[in-house]
Amino acid sequence: MDDKDIRILAIESSCDETAAAVMRNGREVCSNVIFSQIELHKLYGGVVPEIASRKHIEKVNQVIREALNDADCSLEDIDAIAVTYGPGLVGALLVGVAEAKAIAYATGKPLVGVHHIEGHIAANYIENKDLEPPFMCLVVSGGHTHLVKVIDYDAFEIIGRTRDDAAGEAFDKVARAIGLGYPGGPKIDALAKEGNKEAIPFPRAKVDGSEFDFSFSGLKSAVLNYLNQCEMKKIEVNRADVAASFQYAVIDVLTTHAICATKEAGMNKLAIAGGVASNSSLRESVRKACEKEGISFYHPSPIYCTDNAVMIGAAGYYSYIKGVSHGLDLNAVPNLKIGERL
Ligand code: KG4
Ligand code: ZN
Repeated sequence: MDDKDIRILAIESSCDETAAAVMRNGREVCSNVIFSQIELHKLYGGVVPEIASRKHIEKVNQVIREALNDADCSLEDIDAIAVTYGPGLVGALLVGVAEAKAIAYATGKPLVGVHHIEGHIAANYIENKDLEPPFMCLVVSGGHTHLVKVIDYDAFEIIGRTRDDAAGEAFDKVARAIGLGYPGGPKIDALAKEGNKEAIPFPRAKVDGSEFDFSFSGLKSAVLNYLNQCEMKKIEVNRADVAASFQYAVIDVLTTHAICATKEAGMNKLAIAGGVASNSSLRESVRKACEKEGISFYHPSPIYCTDNAVMIGAAGYYSYIKGVSHGLDLNAVPNLKIGERL
């Protein structure tokens, strides 16, 4: 092993994925292990926090061992331990944080707490070796919808956010309403390909006050109203048309806001991140809009869009080389703000 290389062992457990990875020099994936709890939560139509925490405890050691084995290294070869400490489900976060602290204590290696959203953003560095800040990033996941100005590896400014539901949450709720099950995003993505996106003119919400804020709860209600009306009038619902029209309404707003924000900030690079960033129509829509505007478009592969530890290792690396190191009193912070260091 090259002594100059920096290897980070990263741990992610903020929601329903127990994940560990080894990253070399921030952008090279040595291993990526993800234990997804989706099958477990499907039964309940969404993530059950208590079940998530228990499963993380059961799986975390195994996932870390596998990540070290796959990377062909031992804890001795690791330079620092990075872990998601917020935002997320407190019980779930605590499992990863306690584990990372135990490893840091036992090995004497530095501990680096990572913000989950900063991790999602950093997922873009893995396959786009030339991407460097500043750039604009649209972060769209199950819990977050943010337009983030990435000023530097460790400097962020939120210029737009959702006022109510996150984009992924809207996908999941609409999917449930049309009987597709959990998680809804990938299912709507697939079904929408068979539908007409212009069949139902669902509303595009305008938010008073901030040009770049989002709102998806009105759209969700419009879909539910449409379904209720069809039921009352005994009209058969074309689920593919509902999926396509709903998805189009979400993507239309996301694309327009992201492009306008990038231009207004005087930037020429736009990245997308988070679970919803794996949506094929969103990628297509943002790609086309970027082409038209002469903006370079970046996105991670789907496996690095949904929760994983590789992205935590990438973000952790940039914190580590800037000298960030947390004490063994590091705690889980369920509502941790982006760019905030606790
Ligand atoms: O980033 P993520 O794995 O977890 C959070 O940090 O929230 O995002 C999960 C969300 C879920 O709401 C899921 O339905 C959505 O991402 N998602 C998608 C797609 N794949 C996952 N939404 C739309 N299209 C997809 N292909
Ligand atoms: Zn996430």
